[in-house]
Amino acid sequence: MLKEVNIEDIKEGKVIDKISNEWMLITSGNAKKSNSMTASWGSLGYIWNKPVATIYVRHTRYTKKFLDESDFFSLCFFDKKYLGDLKYLGTHSGRYDDKLAKTNLTLVYQDGIPFIKEASIVIICHKEYAQDMTAESFCDQNLYHQNYKNELPHKMYIGKIIHTFVKK
Ligand SMILES: Cc1cc2nc3c(=O)[nH]c(=O)nc-3n(C[C@H](O)[C@H](O)[C@H](O)COP(=O)(O)O)c2cc1C
Repeated sequence: MLKEVNIEDIKEGKVIDKISNEWMLITSGNAKKSNSMTASWGSLGYIWNKPVATIYVRHTRYTKKFLDESDFFSLCFFDKKYLGDLKYLGTHSGRYDDKLAKTNLTLVYQDGIPFIKEASIVIICHKEYAQDMTAESFCDQNLYHQNYKNELPHKMYIGKIIHTFVKK
């Protein structure tokens, strides 16, 4: 069971730790078709007078197609017992089969926006901004070369946080 809270109730320091060490699941799509992938790069912040979530997705991810085609995405955080499932979803692509069916996780919807029932925190976002990062925009070219040897830089998506749910 989830209850709705204000995003401000989610403490910033804990969120950074959660994203980088406990990871999150990005899900996008609709009731007919969606896809989920594990992510550990992202942030929660404030711009355009609204709380937002920013995520960074490589061009090779199947989830990117859903992020590009949909106006919404969800971010789900989990208890440690789901770590194995997050590992699986972060090392297998949904391009080839229904990878969520191979986990203990269940797809549910909020106003048609897919998220994961077993999550302890669910953040639902309306996509407001999307942009490819470019090589020229890196102030530190070492950072660019360290991270993008043979691949394009990430695409960033900024979503306005429209709902935040936590497990009761
Ligand atoms: C711990 C962890 C963190 C990850 N973080 C990201 C990330 O922030 N951005 C990204 O593009 N891929 C990230 N990945 C890789 C994707 O989750 C992975 O490539 C996944 O299989 C993509 O699935 P898809 O093709 O179904 O979208 C991460 C993987 C793991 C295991």
